[in-house]
Amino acid sequence: MKLLITGGAGFIGSAVVRLAIARGHQVVNLDALTYAACLENVAGVAESPLYAFEQTNIRDRAALDRIFAAHRPDAVMHLAAESHVDRSIDGPGAFIETNITGTYNMLESARDFWVGEGRPEAFRFHHISTDEVFGSLPNDPLVKFTEDTAYDPRSPYSASKAASDHLVRAWHETYGLPVVLTNCSNNYGPYHFPEKLIPVIILNALAGKPLPIYGDGSNIRDWLFVEDHADALLLVVEKGRVGRSYNIGGENERTNLELVQTLCAILDEKRPKAQGSYTDQITFVADRPGHDARYAIAPGRIREELGWRPSVTVEEGLARTVQWYLDNENWWKPLQGRKGIGERLGVKT
Ligand SMILES: NC(=O)c1ccc[n+]([C@@H]2O[C@H](COP(=O)([O-])OP(=O)(O)OC[C@H]3O[C@@H](n4cnc5c(N)ncnc54)[C@H](O)[C@@H]3O)[C@@H](O)[C@H]2O)c1
Repeated sequence: MKLLITGGAGFIGSAVVRLAIARGHQVVNLDALTYAACLENVAGVAESPLYAFEQTNIRDRAALDRIFAAHRPDAVMHLAAESHVDRSIDGPGAFIETNITGTYNMLESARDFWVGEGRPEAFRFHHISTDEVFGSLPNDPLVKFTEDTAYDPRSPYSASKAASDHLVRAWHETYGLPVVLTNCSNNYGPYHFPEKLIPVIILNALAGKPLPIYGDGSNIRDWLFVEDHADALLLVVEKGRVGRSYNIGGENERTNLELVQTLCAILDEKRPKAQGSYTDQITFVADRPGHDARYAIAPGRIREELGWRPSVTVEEGLARTVQWYLDNENWWKPLQGRKGIGERLGVKT
């Protein structure tokens, strides 16, 4: 399959690019290289004859048309987005322009290309989204997000992703574009950009800095190893039913405090401090405005229809992730100089 993957220099997109190439797919990686991008994430496949890179902004419709015409993909996997909730609180404009207008441009470019090719049935537009579009759950283990949960986004980030999901569904219903959608829970793993919770905790711990926990640390997230997400995405683009959405999650709910304590325990074992535990560095800080209490995915549809299962437990995945950061200082050190990294964002309202 020839895949046009947007956002392939980011955290999840690069995992999809690496896995797709390992499985013999051709990949065109389309990425604007924003502050969150890192071409090192795909350095291992950049020389492959299966790989091509286009530095392009999805806000630029004419450039997208040129890329569709030049590469003639079998499927699009659309991951490019502004992705950090805290940044969406400080500057929502970029989220509207990239996540909504950019997705609209992708849909229109894909539609023109698909119509021009004679509307091939096998073509797919796979939109990659988040569970945050469903809002916040009560703390009841029996209540989880299903594909039928009503949308209730509460941050500028999740609202912009929800809007993009609606556009994708509308392009299917109105124009017949063969789309599939996925909504995934929080990812973690290698190459996670050092502004997100897990890398922040690992790197602050190693630097002897405070480990910031928003509010009282009781917010619950459902964690999935990024390589398992990439595997699920390739399964959906190949076998997912047209017009359908699939929730993807690892069924690994943890409060933020439990997660940070687990990371500290792994670090205590792998890189013991001269004295005490990394948990001594835990510090509670002002909460994020509108902080959703709980996310939890019911992944029944992808499991039953497509036979997907995560390959690692959260314990294995977190241990592998910590080890990866210990082994890859050359990757994360330069990123700490990028704008906003290490600063507290998203508290001014
Ligand atoms: N991180 C998560 O836990 C998570 C969970 C579920 C869904 N998602 C979704 O998965 C996708 C990827 O998330 P991520 O964590 O890898 O994000 P990321 O921020 O690490 O990467 C985003 C990539 O998109 C590129 N990009 C941003 N704006 C662009 C533009 N205007 N034109 C072209 N490229 C642009 C960036 O350069 C970057 O390489 C997003 O759509 C996100 O909403 C993320």
